Amino acid sequence: MAEVVHTPRVFSGIQPSGGLTLGNYLGALKRFGETQDQGEMPTIYCIVDMHAITVWQDPEKLRHATRALTAGFIASGIDPTKSILFNQSAVPGHAQLGWIFNCVARLGWMQRMTQFKDKAGKNSENVSLGLFAYPALMAADILVYHATHVPVGEDQKQHVELTRDIAIKFNNDYGTDFFPVPEPVIEGAATRVMSLRDGTKKMSKSDPSDMSRINLTDDADTIAKKIRKAKTDPEPLPETLDGLEGRPEARNLVNIYAALSGKAAAEVVAEYAGQQFGTFKPALADLAVERLSPISSEMSRLMQDPAEIDRILAHGAEQANAIAAPIVRRARDIVGMVGA
Ligand code: TYM
Repeated sequence: MAEVVHTPRVFSGIQPSGGLTLGNYLGALKRFGETQDQGEMPTIYCIVDMHAITVWQDPEKLRHATRALTAGFIASGIDPTKSILFNQSAVPGHAQLGWIFNCVARLGWMQRMTQFKDKAGKNSENVSLGLFAYPALMAADILVYHATHVPVGEDQKQHVELTRDIAIKFNNDYGTDFFPVPEPVIEGAATRVMSLRDGTKKMSKSDPSDMSRINLTDDADTIAKKIRKAKTDPEPLPETLDGLEGRPEARNLVNIYAALSGKAAAEVVAEYAGQQFGTFKPALADLAVERLSPISSEMSRLMQDPAEIDRILAHGAEQANAIAAPIVRRARDIVGMVGA
């Protein structure tokens, strides 16, 4: 039955809906750049504009957000000559395979997705059908490249697990091993960056309070102010990580420091043991500004030439399509669809 050898390949995506947060940077972009630079596997990174429109997007803002996100990828170290960087809607294979997967995935699987439940809330009769089918399209994003490794933040784990279920069911239904069963890669100190206002909530671009997150476009003063005002508790930093138990806000700031500095969280705690947040917060603010300012200024520079960004995306789409098209052709053939 072995049709193809599944060579290791990395795929991940980010939605162009709103700006980028520190969560996106530490949970995704920074790690995407590192994976690319390790050079062990080909890396494919996607601006998932089809996912973005599962909730209403103003067209002009979507165009701008797509280009800004592309600039964000490049400013964070994704090099379009080393990785494939493109937007989802420019490669038809995503929609084509997405439809096939809509017919493989089960309604019950989708109903269990916590992100859908969170986003739909009490209003689930009124959300788009696309929002419900979102994880099947995500499976198509990954599997249309036969990707084997999917670097994501903690919040996307359930979706990647569903992708595995879809790959397995497709393979079983059609008696094949055409699709690889991909692995989520959730590693590092900051796979779940929390809100600066509430250490039990994820840092998110959709949080109504801008003080809850650091945006990659925030200037140095804003970053420093947000960290200074971040919620903490009155205790000093403990001697060891165990001492952060039950202190989600403190734990979050330590994790952010660790991820930005490249140190282990235990090392950070050891370094600041016994110190007050009055000392730790300014150190964290300096580190955050030092790491994020170059990214934000590079993003602004790149955004001055949108035509160049469009050229980069078009080139990436061509490369992506060259991989996806034969995989879609073969998937259609397996399903029994005829024609080119
Ligand atoms: P999105 O656009 O919400 O987020 C993009 C990436 O950022 C990570 N992330 C975080 N990581 C740590 N802490 C946080 N607070 C935080 N907030 C966001 C996310 O985990 C993600 O890795 N469904 C996906 C996009 C997608 C995708 C794919 C991802 C579509 N197709 C295929 C991988 C493979 C999403 O909405 O991510």
